[in-house]
Amino acid sequence: MSDEMMLKQFQSRIDNGEKIEPGDPMPDAYRKTLLRQISQHAHSEVIGMQPEGNWVLRAPSLRAKKILLAKIQDEGGHGLYLYSAAESLGIDRDEMIGQLHAGKAKYSSVFNYPTLTWADIGAIGWLVDGAAIVNQTMLAKCSFGPYSRAMLRICKEEGFHQRQGYEIMARMMSGTAAQKEMAQDAMNRWWWPSLMMFGPHDTESVHSSESMKWKIKVESNDRLRQRFINRTVEQAHHIGLIVPDPLLKYNDQTMNWEAGPINWEEFYKVINGDGPCNHKRMLHHIKYHREGGWVRDAARAFAEKQQETADTSIY
Ligand code: 3HC
Repeated sequence: MSDEMMLKQFQSRIDNGEKIEPGDPMPDAYRKTLLRQISQHAHSEVIGMQPEGNWVLRAPSLRAKKILLAKIQDEGGHGLYLYSAAESLGIDRDEMIGQLHAGKAKYSSVFNYPTLTWADIGAIGWLVDGAAIVNQTMLAKCSFGPYSRAMLRICKEEGFHQRQGYEIMARMMSGTAAQKEMAQDAMNRWWWPSLMMFGPHDTESVHSSESMKWKIKVESNDRLRQRFINRTVEQAHHIGLIVPDPLLKYNDQTMNWEAGPINWEEFYKVINGDGPCNHKRMLHHIKYHREGGWVRDAARAFAEKQQETADTSIY
């Protein structure tokens, strides 16, 4: 089949809403942008465990510690689903991790901020996972089968993550003056980085037009960001938190909460490696990836042994 024929057939499958599976004919550019996005998504899930892990030993109660441990464990699992989805496109995990360590792959900007108090754990669950749910619910409709199916499982678990974060914030906002101040401080520091999670404005987005044509994205960065803002501003007001945006206003016509300008200079600074914690996150990932090598070796040796036994047992 000529490339032109394949492209035509591929696009009509996409336009008909069909799922593309790993073994199907697909344009190299489709594979390439999926690999870029899915591997970054997987890296984000794993690196996102660091800021929260910082508070496991300092959780204010055994209940809080158990919930945080369960959430962090979920995030590791999300990373594994996503690395597996990316591997179905013909890249292996070691190569993806190598790209991350060499600065050739990104992870979500939001994980380059420090977690200074327990309220940050509430803000991350409520705002960061809340933003992730809006984005990932859209990605569950993605044209690439393994990615969209991974999202179905991930979104279910994100629901718990978002609610436990909001519970932390609600409890602190009905607590002492010091707890209220701590929760508002976390809101002030995590609001804008959460909006940045959706990526640049549609007019500045490098990949959106291609991703929309191939239904990798079925809604734009700005449309998802607006949905997140509308939902979250109401939740903030419900528990007495102030949204740190003096220009925020409600538009009766569009029924949208219209946010003030995002600091894109900060965004590009962070995604280009110069955020508050980029260096720390990468050193930590490299150190523990190296120290965990023996686990991977043991798992590989076990899998090879299993395969050997399976091969010999069929005769
Ligand atoms: N952080 C880091 N890089 C970002 C970014 C962000 N928040 N937003 C955009 N970028 C990068 C893009 O990767 C791209 O750079 P690249 O060409 O080197 O890959 C560049 O900025 C231009 O942005 P585009 O809008 O053109 O890029 P995309 O079309 O890929 O859209 C995206 C960006 C919306 C983040 C999209 O990549 C996406 O949906 N990714 C998967 C979802 C994801 O990463 N979710 C957040 C992390 S997971 C998480 O939150 C865990 C939770 O459980 C706590």
